[in-house]
Amino acid sequence: MIKNFMELSYLLAAVIFIVGLKWMASPKRARRGNALSAIGMLIAILVTLLDHQILSFRMLTVGIVVGSLLGLWMAKAVKMTAMPQMVGLLNGFGGGASLLVAAAEWYRLIQPGATMTTATAITIYASSLVGGVTIAGSVVAALKLQGWVVPDRPVLFPGRHALSIGLILTVIAMGVYLGYNPGTLWAFVVLNIASLILGIQLVIAIGGADQPVVICLLNSYSGIAAAMTGFVINNHGLIITGALVGASGIILTNIMCKAMNRSIWNVLFGGVGVVVAGSGGEKGAAMRAKGVRTITAEDTAALLGYGKLVIVVPGYGMAVAQAQHQVRELADLLHKRGVEVLYAIHPVAGRMPGHMNVLLAEANVPYEALLDLDQINPNFDRADVAIVIGANDVVNPAARHDTTSPIYGMPILDADLAQHIIVMKRSMNPGFAGIENELFYNSKTQMLFGDAKKSLLTLINEVRVLE
Ligand code: TAP
Repeated sequence: MIKNFMELSYLLAAVIFIVGLKWMASPKRARRGNALSAIGMLIAILVTLLDHQILSFRMLTVGIVVGSLLGLWMAKAVKMTAMPQMVGLLNGFGGGASLLVAAAEWYRLIQPGATMTTATAITIYASSLVGGVTIAGSVVAALKLQGWVVPDRPVLFPGRHALSIGLILTVIAMGVYLGYNPGTLWAFVVLNIASLILGIQLVIAIGGADQPVVICLLNSYSGIAAAMTGFVINNHGLIITGALVGASGIILTNIMCKAMNRSIWNVLFGGVGVVVAGSGGEKGAAMRAKGVRTITAEDTAALLGYGKLVIVVPGYGMAVAQAQHQVRELADLLHKRGVEVLYAIHPVAGRMPGHMNVLLAEANVPYEALLDLDQINPNFDRADVAIVIGANDVVNPAARHDTTSPIYGMPILDADLAQHIIVMKRSMNPGFAGIENELFYNSKTQMLFGDAKKSLLTLINEVRVLE
């Protein structure tokens, strides 16, 4: 009876997750989708508590309180710009949990009197493998994004592919050995250590510029690890949610790969993101020699205020400056003057998927005004001004033609096609990819140097005083 009730509740939770995910696809219903999914998770947790195999309720309560307080503190303390690292770490925790559950179940099943079926053994080892790769890989990805301990560039060494293959073979060999001798502690430890090293090895070889794809992929791995764990402990709720996370993570990875014009194999095994000459070397020096043109806030206001179409290109710098509210205020003023304002949203602008959408939605920018790459690019050549606010790599024309550039092949926003280009940033420092940007040296480009928020505040005042 209880078992049937549990299964039905898990099914209900799964349906709620699917509907929640569907709602999240539309900005208008995204918040409700999130809340609905949280309700689904609450149902799944409560039902799991009915399972009497579970630890004492005192232990559970301590775990829930400590975990919730830590989660709350992290969410409050972490800056919006450091969200990708946090998301990366949270994915990793999912993988780590799967690894620990698999280890605990393995230990329980090798005790005298217990039996481990072949199917359970396979799922335990698969769960250890995917969980180990996920936790180790996620920690490395988070450290890379944070710029701590691990260098941002790809760490490549001779024989790294051979090492990866060796590690995979070790995991398989240990799995087979454990199949015949399930209680062998050393083999189980070797299997887990090999999985952890494999996770480090896979991610450390990938450059910072490709970390968005890695984070999405690790998200997917964490789901797969959870689904495996669901098989290990025979929990259908975990299998379904794990499969959902695994599948949606793969879809997101695919979208990110397309946005960056990379194949997943190229990201994982190509060692891309290696610092190459590109526009950072001699070409960069030649560009710098040309110098850039600057513009005042007053002149920028005139360009914007007397235009017909202005396209705002937000980037990571807007997030750093937290200038989204000022962007909205400026757009409102321009609207009042009869200027059409559109926003060009690049899929990897900022530091996490949907970064710009979230910030601009927070500032109540109408969602219809946010246009993605394919929608906005045909509009740049009719725009009077493209105003680039803290964006850099996503508007670098080198991506179109410079085969030596680390961002070569990435689809970009065609800001260079506008009649005037205003770039707002603090200095000539490069963006995430660490390379010079040809756009800044374009004869149509003028630089408005300064913190984006401060510059926008001045600009807003200047637009106000236009006749
Ligand atoms: P970036 O190329 O990183 O450039 C950001 C620019 O903002 C910098 O050149 C910086 O120049 C400027 N900036 C920083 N703080 C500022 C402030 N307070 N006021 C004004 N400007 C400021 O940004 P992007 O064009 O958005 O491109 C995103 C990059 O990040 C891509 O290479 C992408 O692959 C990578 N990435 C994306 C993600 C996701 S999922 N979105 C995740 C990880 C990495 P100054 O220092 O001179 O001001």
